Amino acid sequence: MFYQTIILGAGAAGMMCAAYAGAGTLVLDHAKNPGEKIRISGGGRCNFTNLDVTPENYLSANPHFCKSALARYTQWDFIELISKHGIAWHEKTLGQLFCDGSAKQIVAMLVAELKSAGAELWLNSAVAKVDTHDTGFSLEVMQEGTLRKLTCANLVLATGGKSIPKMGATGLSYDIAQQFDLPLLPTRAGLVPFTFDQERFKPLAGTALPSRLSNARASFDEALLFTHRGLSGPAVLQLSSYWREGEDISVNLDPENQLFNTLRKQRQTEGRRQLNTELAHLLPSRLVEFLGQTLPLTQRLADQSDDALQTLCANLRDWRLKPSGTEGYRTAEVTLGGIDTNALSSKTMEAKTKPGLYAIGEAVDVTGWLGGYNFQWAWASGHAAGVAI
Ligand code: FDA
Repeated sequence: MFYQTIILGAGAAGMMCAAYAGAGTLVLDHAKNPGEKIRISGGGRCNFTNLDVTPENYLSANPHFCKSALARYTQWDFIELISKHGIAWHEKTLGQLFCDGSAKQIVAMLVAELKSAGAELWLNSAVAKVDTHDTGFSLEVMQEGTLRKLTCANLVLATGGKSIPKMGATGLSYDIAQQFDLPLLPTRAGLVPFTFDQERFKPLAGTALPSRLSNARASFDEALLFTHRGLSGPAVLQLSSYWREGEDISVNLDPENQLFNTLRKQRQTEGRRQLNTELAHLLPSRLVEFLGQTLPLTQRLADQSDDALQTLCANLRDWRLKPSGTEGYRTAEVTLGGIDTNALSSKTMEAKTKPGLYAIGEAVDVTGWLGGYNFQWAWASGHAAGVAI
């Protein structure tokens, strides 16, 4: 059976690509449902894009690569699409847009779009073999127990990254890219919680507070959450994409830089109180208790010189921690690295050395921040390949 285009992966990027590639396109997925990551994303409401998308919100060995696709299919284009389908949405915070109802509406919309464009969707279909063929490519696919031999002119790699293998993530796009000599960049888990030895933060599990998390490469002002295994929350997930094994991170527990002035003022009226009592008005009390294990917080406020208060506040603004690792692909929202963008056209996503071969979405070395940026990349890169095909 010949198809003009076969897209591997009925996720965000693959279905978007099919909606533009149109008739003569087949989308294959080994899962029993399309768009499973869309369905579970954003706590079931899918943070489908962001009001403020810029190339600076993406990590890649080539930071310029994402510009063309993002400029040609913007967040406004996607908002227009979902509005056409009557899907209600709202901004939660920091420009992040979510469905009012359910993420399933986005999946249903993409399936409807690809079908109305004339594309076909096969689920429960595992790719057994891919080869070069006179027409372009040949594939052997096990579709619900039956071996199907397919040929196509264009093959689109859209099977995503390695994150959450339990949900069916595989390295198929990487394997096929390698088979056709496209270079790969090392992959690692991104947007993922940090772990620490000996359940260091277990006594604080569940405590959350605003923070600034930084390292030499990046800094994020967002919430920090202590967990049984370590640190999580938006600030941590964001920084994890910029972190390398063995490095320190800096946690600023006073991102608004208010502690020093507040404590100084309190010293005049509440001088007999202990530091930890005053700090517990400004930070979660369990955290103050925990910090008291290493900082002299049982001293009286009146006994603190300005210098002593400065030193204390400086410690709280630069709490150095060394994660032992991350939770890895088991819980990571994304995979960093992947198919090297130098091997692809930034306009069409087609491989420079293998005409007819395309790579889109998370399989490519373009990774967004937390906040709807990864879906926007999936929509934009899927659109770029779809219109080019
Ligand atoms: P995606 O993973 O969506 O799709 C790949 C498809 O390929 C899947 O359907 C899979 O079954 C299929 N496949 C894999 N291997 C195959 C094989 N061997 N044979 C056949 N098919 C195969 N992003 C964001 O912007 N906002 C958000 O709210 C969230 N939330 C979120 C929550 C969680 C828990 C996770 C894990 C991730 C997110 N993300 C996110 C990230 C976002 O889900 C991700 O970046 C996109 O889904 C990537 O789209 P792709 O189409 O590239 O891959």
